[in-house]
Amino acid sequence: MELLKNPHKPHIFIYDLQGMNLKSVLIVVLFFLSGTNVYGRISYHNLHHHHHHKHINGYFQYSAISCRAYSASITDFGGVGDGVTSNTKAFQTAIDHLSKFGSKGGGSLLYVPAGRWLTGSFNLTSHFTLFLHQDAVLLATQDENEWAVIDPLPSYGRGRDTAGGRYISLIFGTNLTDVIITGNNGTIHGQGQLWWDKFHQGVLNYTRPYLIEIMYSTGIQISNLTLIDSPSWNVHPIYSSNIFIQGITILAPIRSPNTDGINPDSCTNTRIEDCYIVSGDDCIAVKSGWDEYGIAYGMPTQQLVIRRLTCISPTSAVIALGSEMSGGIQDVRAEDIVAINSESGVRIKTGVGRGGFVKDIYVKGFTMHTMRWAFWMTGNYGSHPDDKWDPSAIPIIQNINYRDMVAENVTMAGRLEGISGDPFTGICISNVTIGMAQSAKKPTWNCTNVAGVSSDVTPQPCAALPPVQGGKACDFPQEKLPIEDVKVQNCFYKANYM
Ligand SMILES: *[C@@H]1O[C@H](CO)[C@@H](O)[C@H](O)[C@H]1NC(C)=O
Ligand SMILES: *[C@@H]1O[C@H](CO)[C@@H](O)[C@H](O)[C@H]1NC(C)=O
Ligand SMILES: *[C@@H]1O[C@H](CO)[C@@H](O)[C@H](O)[C@H]1NC(C)=O
Ligand SMILES: *[C@@H]1O[C@H](CO)[C@@H](O)[C@H](O)[C@H]1NC(C)=O
Ligand SMILES: *[C@@H]1O[C@H](CO)[C@@H](O)[C@H](O)[C@H]1NC(C)=O
Ligand SMILES: *[C@@H]1O[C@H](CO)[C@@H](O)[C@H](O)[C@H]1NC(C)=O
Ligand SMILES: *[C@@H]1O[C@H](CO)[C@@H](O)[C@H](O)[C@H]1NC(C)=O
Ligand SMILES: *[C@@H]1O[C@H](CO)[C@@H](O)[C@H](O)[C@H]1NC(C)=O
Repeated sequence: MELLKNPHKPHIFIYDLQGMNLKSVLIVVLFFLSGTNVYGRISYHNLHHHHHHKHINGYFQYSAISCRAYSASITDFGGVGDGVTSNTKAFQTAIDHLSKFGSKGGGSLLYVPAGRWLTGSFNLTSHFTLFLHQDAVLLATQDENEWAVIDPLPSYGRGRDTAGGRYISLIFGTNLTDVIITGNNGTIHGQGQLWWDKFHQGVLNYTRPYLIEIMYSTGIQISNLTLIDSPSWNVHPIYSSNIFIQGITILAPIRSPNTDGINPDSCTNTRIEDCYIVSGDDCIAVKSGWDEYGIAYGMPTQQLVIRRLTCISPTSAVIALGSEMSGGIQDVRAEDIVAINSESGVRIKTGVGRGGFVKDIYVKGFTMHTMRWAFWMTGNYGSHPDDKWDPSAIPIIQNINYRDMVAENVTMAGRLEGISGDPFTGICISNVTIGMAQSAKKPTWNCTNVAGVSSDVTPQPCAALPPVQGGKACDFPQEKLPIEDVKVQNCFYKANYM
């Protein structure tokens, strides 16, 4: 019984409703189209193939900001999960097709069953969910011809690895509303080794691709996935708002170049929680554009919540603020963080030429094991996009609050380096106990061009952070950010076959 039909095969039909009369079909259809908490029963089918598939009437339940009425499997579009066949065309055809539903009935879902799905880059659409089965692996192709080259980001002026363009990310979306990438801990595998080798050999023609990049979008959920061996950064939302990231495991060798975990960049209202990240660069790097390009674009990252993060990053930071911070970073709240064998906890990275600001930063509940620097601020990061940067563009760093932390086996408690003539001010550190390593460096703190206060901090901080009597709490904001109230619903997807 066909509900909607496309001029090309395959056809849309109501799989479950065969044999029902027209009236009840219409009632059911109206029900499905009217509600938001709908079952994914209106399925997409390839009539030529579905008889060959094992038919399992399994339901998946998952949490999402929007449920979808329409669904299809990548196998409906000729997808082959053998790890060898390219599925680039299948993905793009499937998504282009599902995009025709728009927001009707809440939009559409593309299901990726168990298998190894080799693919090049593909583009997402609005009101759309990409759902990966727990044994589904998206394998990023190593064939450079499958990667379109796109323009540099306007707030960066050039690619991060090379001047000029950059390879598009594996999963790319731009100018979207309501887009979800989720699964029962399914995997996206970047096969990054080849890219890392090319990077080290200096033979890249363009900047390496990321695994997921979403630009100019609002209403983004990325959840319950494992990301492995990205060629470069893993998750990069940019120029976007209302972003909910939960339950992401990110794994990359600790020596792999620039494999940052999650990089919110010129984004407003973002929540990142319950993530486990082991990587060769910062676990979370908060950004907002690079020198004169970022200043001109002028779009800050603000209203960011990070909580329940576990990070292992021996050569980098658990949470980096910068170094590209030229559009500004404001109102970041991080709590319940565990750091293991990492270079630094929270690190501010900036320099002359960046401009912009880092202000109203609040961090509490941080446990650190084996760290080089518990606290690190760097005012001479350098690294300019070109020689057009403005030496009078100095960054403003103020109101930085750290409290309720315990660290052990730390080489140096704090290395806080502001900028001469541009001190970093309003630093507040309270209720922090740092256990020093046997090999600890003296002095335990070294502060230059910074000002602030401390209370109840061991070992005793530098003179630039004098203790305040009666204790200053370095207060964490009480009122919630809008993204903390984001509502997720219980959605159901009915797998007609797997
Ligand atoms: C992620 O999975 C967990 C269970 O493993 C579930 O409780 C949670 O709601 C899921 N979150 C999202 C946003 O998918
Ligand atoms: C995806 O979008 C980018 C940027 O809009 C574009 O350059 C690229 O060609 C698109 N890819 C496909 C397969 O349509
Ligand atoms: C996407 O949005 C940006 C910012 O609003 C705009 O400049 C750009 O033209 C849009 N691109 C497309 C393809 O609509
Ligand atoms: C997801 O898979 C990764 C990699 O296998 C594993 O380390 C992690 O514990 C899994 N997460 C959940 C919630 O099952
Ligand atoms: C880079 O470009 C050159 C010249 O266009 C080409 O010969 C070479 O194969 C490219 N390198 C890679 C790694 O694609
Ligand atoms: C000090 O920090 C610890 C966690 O490290 C926390 O359990 C305790 O409640 C904090 N004390 C105060 C007075 O806030
Ligand atoms: C302490 O840190 C050093 C590196 O600085 C490491 O080699 C050692 O194993 C750590 N000890 C413990 C007990 O974690
Ligand atoms: C403290 O840091 C400053 C600035 O980086 C550096 O010049 C100085 O040598 C350091 N002092 C010590 C004693 O390590």
